[in-house]
Amino acid sequence: MNINLRNAILEDIPILQHWDKQQHVIDCDPEDDWDWSEMLVEEKEWQKMLVAELNGRAIGFVQIIDPYLEETNYWGEIEQNLRAIDIWIGEATDLGKGYGTVMMNLAIEKCFSNEKVKAIVIDPLETNVLAIKFYKKLGFKFVAKREFTKGYMSEVLRLERKECRQK
Ligand SMILES: CC(C)(COP(=O)(O)OP(=O)(O)OC[C@H]1O[C@@H](n2cnc3c(N)ncnc32)[C@H](O)[C@@H]1OP(=O)(O)O)[C@@H](O)C(=O)NCCC(=O)NCCS
Repeated sequence: MNINLRNAILEDIPILQHWDKQQHVIDCDPEDDWDWSEMLVEEKEWQKMLVAELNGRAIGFVQIIDPYLEETNYWGEIEQNLRAIDIWIGEATDLGKGYGTVMMNLAIEKCFSNEKVKAIVIDPLETNVLAIKFYKKLGFKFVAKREFTKGYMSEVLRLERKECRQK
């Protein structure tokens, strides 16, 4: 499958905003409101924003952050040398076709290409059972339940470098 991850650029804003309006994207993060024009102008050392392309067609988005350095302190008290990933496929018609697995494996590879990175964490809503199943298939293990956003319980899942098949 010819899928690659590249840096998101300002020209991606219309498609990113279009994806933000899709119900499956809203459902995975109902309270979030990403201001793409603000986020994409300034490069931050703790953040990578990536667009996935399938044969040159943009199909989804991946964000990789260093949760220790992230400036809103979303993850609270957290150790150094971790990465956190957010991922979504833009169009509902592209769901469940194996694209997310390829995207996630590329993102995992990117994270662990830095020798210092010990593990990757993710925080799907506990109601997002399909995503949780997807992450567990990739080797992520349940760590805890946590209310990152008031009224929404998430599951924290974690993939250790040593447990990752690729590294
Ligand atoms: C989660 C997501 C990235 C997975 O990518 P995908 O391309 O749909 O998944 P794949 O086809 O590679 O893998 C299929 C597995 O993913 C899971 N899955 C998650 N969401 C799914 C969906 N909407 N449709 C089908 N399978 C889905 C299933 O467990 C499935 O396993 P199965 O085939 O054994 O049933 C994608 O479904 C998505 O963008 N969902 C909406 C946004 C979201 O929930 N993002 C995660 C936020 S934490």
